[in-house]
Amino acid sequence: MYNIAVIPGDGIGPEVVEAAITILDKLPIDFNYTYANAGDKCKEDTGVALPDETLEIAKKADAVLFGAAGETAADVIVRLRRELNTFVNLRPVKSLQPDKYGDIDFMIVRENTEDLYIGDEELTEEGAIARKKITKFASERIAEYAFKYAEDTGRKKVTAVHKANVLKLSDGLFKESFYKMAENHPDIETNDFYVDATAMYLITNPLDFEVIVTTNLYGDILSDEGAGLVGGLGMIPSANIGDNSGLFEPVHGSAPDIAGQGIADPVATILSACMMLDYLGESEYARKIEDVMIDVIRQGDNVTPDLGGDASTQEMAEYIASKL
Ligand code: NAI
Ligand code: MG
Repeated sequence: MYNIAVIPGDGIGPEVVEAAITILDKLPIDFNYTYANAGDKCKEDTGVALPDETLEIAKKADAVLFGAAGETAADVIVRLRRELNTFVNLRPVKSLQPDKYGDIDFMIVRENTEDLYIGDEELTEEGAIARKKITKFASERIAEYAFKYAEDTGRKKVTAVHKANVLKLSDGLFKESFYKMAENHPDIETNDFYVDATAMYLITNPLDFEVIVTTNLYGDILSDEGAGLVGGLGMIPSANIGDNSGLFEPVHGSAPDIAGQGIADPVATILSACMMLDYLGESEYARKIEDVMIDVIRQGDNVTPDLGGDASTQEMAEYIASKL
């Protein structure tokens, strides 16, 4: 039996999490779900966006499944990643409709603990200053993770993304750490690009990428760009992994523009649940769910509007569950 902390959060969060649980419930695996509050609504109701009780539940669980937070995202998900010490954020950009989007399939390995996301901002007379933190320890750790990931999954190339021409010390250190760790992995091809050029190459040459390793902010931005390459934010899951913790969440936010309409695409959250199954050692079921879901998407009925159908979030999930 696995103890799963479920934090649905705001907006479409509860809708897509319910869809993912509908699928998990079809598996012959015993899950014990503990629901916990966090987000904008939680802050309205209780005064805090991430209550201590939620943090405790998340820390005790075997894994955490998270939906989305709204305006409190920095206080909720960024803090949860830090408190659980999940130092890597894996964001697979994979086209599930190759005839429509091409055979795009690369992994973004995003550093998850530092960079501008430490949230160290200060008001000054002139305006404000935000500090960007890049350490040797975290840069080497994430580079090593990316190389190891490439080796374990049969990928041949790892690309580092940075802006070391302008941020010579901080991004310079990130780049240097990447090439230092590369020495231990001579069979993996390496290269590096500036983040602005990468933003273009992802559009012009997306098939050239296999594994991207990058800092926290660039990873955040490039993963939304990656979503745009393969059908939108409804398609991209993520796994936050630490030595003793796993937190799984779609890349998208609370999508207030479509919340409450039952039209949110559940794919990103279902794939996040699959990444959770991988983490728990239940990969066989993860692959099964993915295969069935890909069939359903390609068939094109019983899918949400962004995928060309007219099913609701929950109808799509129930249809996938019925095919398992
Ligand atoms: P967003 O990811 O919520 O939405 C961006 C666009 O993608 C919207 O047009 C939305 O309708 C669409 N979209 C997102 N998920 C979708 C899905 N499953 N199916 C179909 N369409 C989908 O980002 P936005 O609008 O910038 O932010 C909205 C709120 O979410 C903000 O309050 C922000 O702070 C928060 N946020 C929270 C995150 C988290 O909790 N991890 C991450 C990103 C944003
Ligand atoms: Mg983001």
